[in-house]
Amino acid sequence: MERRYIILANWKMNPETEKEALTLARAYKNLDVPKGIEFGALVPLPYARPIAKLWGRNKMLLGLQNINSEKSGAFTGEVSFAMLKPWTPKLVIVGHSERRAIGETDAEVNQKVLRALKENVTPIICVGEKVRDDHGFFLRTVEDSLKACLASVPKSAYPSIIIAYEPVWAISSNGGREMLPAECHEMMIFIRKVIADMLGGNKNMPRVIYGGSVNELNSREYLESGADGLLPGHASLDPKKMQKLFNSLAPIQK
Ligand code: PGA
Repeated sequence: MERRYIILANWKMNPETEKEALTLARAYKNLDVPKGIEFGALVPLPYARPIAKLWGRNKMLLGLQNINSEKSGAFTGEVSFAMLKPWTPKLVIVGHSERRAIGETDAEVNQKVLRALKENVTPIICVGEKVRDDHGFFLRTVEDSLKACLASVPKSAYPSIIIAYEPVWAISSNGGREMLPAECHEMMIFIRKVIADMLGGNKNMPRVIYGGSVNELNSREYLESGADGLLPGHASLDPKKMQKLFNSLAPIQK
């Protein structure tokens, strides 16, 4: 089956109030999203339920930005999937560089991936180098991280996973430059090659998306360079920007 592109808004720890979050979620509902695109948002946990209610049976995808890999126990401050029932998010992003910066490891990401799959939630696994070097050592960083995050994941589950390649230096809040589409193209090939080697072929491939300063001016180029989707952060907080982003992609077909 042909898969559509997927665009996932990463709201991070925004907006500041539930009222603003619902205003943004309502605006999302009214966006004109091209047919070939699946669209969703990864929202702060307290906003997830009210937004799920607001979106109802709308085809928009709703996801979280973190979850604990255990069902319950002595984990102060943590939240499990079990606690969210009967509501279950469609997606959860794991291993974002902003969480890795406060100590999340590949091993923890791996446990979260396994838990999400058990709960029928799509894990979005973030990988990406902090810096680039002229010798290509950054490729090793990405490869090692991918392998560790996917440890013990059955091959049959790979199509239910999304890999988000996010070079840390290209994330807007880090103030670096934008990644060039040609660099993105290289990384899409590299990541797919690593995964194909793990799978022993290119059957059961996960989707590989791109994140890092994605906006209405560069989205089309990133998709044309081979990404299966995009993960806009800063730009996603402005529905007008999101509409422009979608307009820049229409018409689109994978
Ligand atoms: P950005 O964030 O689009 O603001 O760079 C992307 C992300 O960190 O997921």
